[in-house]
Amino acid sequence: MQSDRIDDFGIAEGELHCEACAVAYSIRGGIPRFVASESYSSSFGEQWIRAGSLRSDSQTGTTYMRDTVLGRTEWPENHLDGKLVLECGCGAGDDTDVLQSLGNSTLISLDLSASVKVAYENTKSNPNVHIIQADLSRIPLREKSVDVVYCHRVLQHTPDPETSFFSMTKHLKDRGGEMFLHCYDSHLSSVLHWKYALRPITKRIDSQRLFRILETLGPALYRLAGAFSRLPLKIGHVSLGRVFAQLFIPFYNHDDLSDRYPLSPEFLYQLSLVNTFDALSPQHDHPKSPSQLRRWFVRDGFDRIELRGRNPVRMVATR
Ligand SMILES: C[S@@+](CC[C@H](N)C(=O)[O-])C[C@H]1O[C@@H](n2cnc3c(N)ncnc32)[C@H](O)[C@@H]1O
Repeated sequence: MQSDRIDDFGIAEGELHCEACAVAYSIRGGIPRFVASESYSSSFGEQWIRAGSLRSDSQTGTTYMRDTVLGRTEWPENHLDGKLVLECGCGAGDDTDVLQSLGNSTLISLDLSASVKVAYENTKSNPNVHIIQADLSRIPLREKSVDVVYCHRVLQHTPDPETSFFSMTKHLKDRGGEMFLHCYDSHLSSVLHWKYALRPITKRIDSQRLFRILETLGPALYRLAGAFSRLPLKIGHVSLGRVFAQLFIPFYNHDDLSDRYPLSPEFLYQLSLVNTFDALSPQHDHPKSPSQLRRWFVRDGFDRIELRGRNPVRMVATR
């Protein structure tokens, strides 16, 4: 380890040396860099640097992110106590912020994109959180060393989800290793969505340009999606206006969150804008079915595999 500059949070600039493999990795902005570039993930770098800490609970003053993480994992509040946790694809670190509060754990959170800068700023005051820029298909940790792998909204965005899956699970301990996996669903009701019709074009548009386009068209589309979603036309529990918006109006509208949280109209619009960009810009979006994911867990020796929900798929599995 070489330190060229130290600040209040540790080595800000320097190098990590791997003697066994005779390779040096730079530390820049307090973050060890195990990749030379963002590769295919640069749209996420753009997205999370723009969003900053928009969604974090400390920013909104609500429990929206905490409830999302606990609702999807169904973990008790101290579930991570005493554990070494590997978060794959941490984005801006909004989940990291919640994970660090679920007991006294050590957290290693990685992302391939420049979003690590935002995640680092959001978590640097906690010495038990380590943000690194790395590719989850080449994780710079010992195999079978981690208690929990947490992977939320990431797997489908990798070029080959199957390879990515096994690349993550090989770092889990053989006995008691646990994985939370969230992945977009390949069910017909998920893939009949405007994003899959538009993505062949929009993923080719330069990220900054796509953001500008969405910022221009956003306010009108947002109001339209909201108006359709509020139409009182239902078959059973299914809102026909919502189904129409999901099929044909290419912009999210998260106004319904204000029924549960005191979120400002400006926040709800910005969240919808970021999520629309998140739907249209990634280079990869390969949804999977629960049965496909279950087969991978079985092949990898997991014996307790629980489906927490579908559309998107949420699973927790233990060895
Ligand atoms: C939709 S974001 C989700 C971020 C965060 N988990 C959340 O739910 O807010 C997907 C993230 O996965 C990251 N990602 C995609 N491929 C990756 C890879 N091979 N290695 C590490 N991170 C990756 C992207 O850079 C992006 O930040």
